Amino acid sequence: MLILGIESTCDETACAVVKDGQTILSNVIYSQSVIHERYGGVYPEIAARHHADLIIPMIEKALQTAGITHRELAGIAVAQGPGLVGSLLIGINAAKALAYAWDLPLIGVNHVEAHLYAAMMNQTPCFPVLGCVLSGGHSFIAKISSVGQYELIATTVDDAMGEAFDKVARLMNLPYPGGMHIERLAQLGDTKKYPLKAGQVKGNPLALSYSGIKTNVLYLTKGANATKNAPLLVEADELCHIAASFQETVFQDLLKKVQKIAASGAYTQIYFGGGVTQNARLREKARNLLGDKVFFAAKDLCLDNGAMIAGLGYHKLQECGALNPEELEPKPSWPFRFVE
Ligand code: KG4
Ligand code: ZN
Repeated sequence: MLILGIESTCDETACAVVKDGQTILSNVIYSQSVIHERYGGVYPEIAARHHADLIIPMIEKALQTAGITHRELAGIAVAQGPGLVGSLLIGINAAKALAYAWDLPLIGVNHVEAHLYAAMMNQTPCFPVLGCVLSGGHSFIAKISSVGQYELIATTVDDAMGEAFDKVARLMNLPYPGGMHIERLAQLGDTKKYPLKAGQVKGNPLALSYSGIKTNVLYLTKGANATKNAPLLVEADELCHIAASFQETVFQDLLKKVQKIAASGAYTQIYFGGGVTQNARLREKARNLLGDKVFFAAKDLCLDNGAMIAGLGYHKLQECGALNPEELEPKPSWPFRFVE
């Protein structure tokens, strides 16, 4: 069963064809990050305009790369949210139009759930397993009883981990998105030169928190009580040590919490997805601390992509059937559905 996946929640225009929720026949991604770099974040209006220009060529490219025509598709899955409303509308309207024109079932997929699914793709999860999403908008640890059944165990009380990387990068005048720039800088640094502390939440030892450490980096780089637009006070040579300490501290804190949860629930497998999980140091530390329990999304499935949408869409189509295209609306803030 071949599903076309369409992803346009933020600044990636991405399309893919996936067979039976597992086998990726194509996964094409156009990232607008260089366009938004100068704004220090995604400029929503510009992102939507680029999606509008790119969406049809990218769909054509996904079909072409997969070596199929639309007649071989069994459905179209589209990321319905959460995301930027203008960006979502382009992907959703393209999906609706093609579902009508090609007479195909249409499936709406939650982008955050798809990040979790990406980690399980081509693996054999022994449910229940632990799942951890670390992206620019979300950071949480959940029990996964099956694809579609999630129980929240721990989440961030403030920033998402990717957001914290982006904010710290901005303090250091690094381009957006900052995660990979912090990773590169950190490789040159001494993690112990500027000791930092991970955020702890009173009365909730498993909760994640990144706003405190981000403020520590602000004061370290720009002086006590400085505002974020103040000039840098430290020498450029010192930034790698601060980046290394920040990265090491947040990863150590997260992994210790994951380890605690894994031990108490006797989970034998832990799946990691979302943009931050591209980070090689995170992968290394996770394997050192948690061993072969750990599974990461393939590197090309960590950042936003169409394959995770098509893959999860396959399961949603089996479980819930198709949606009426008229009822498929963008959900800019679609809270992830956890069972209580
Ligand atoms: O999952 P994603 O592509 O988009 C969201 O759904 O948010 O994640 C993007 C986030 C950004 O905050 C980016 O800085 C972060 O993932 N990221 C990284 C790395 N690559 C991307 N963070 C740390 N290390 C990286 N190598
Ligand atoms: Zn994402």
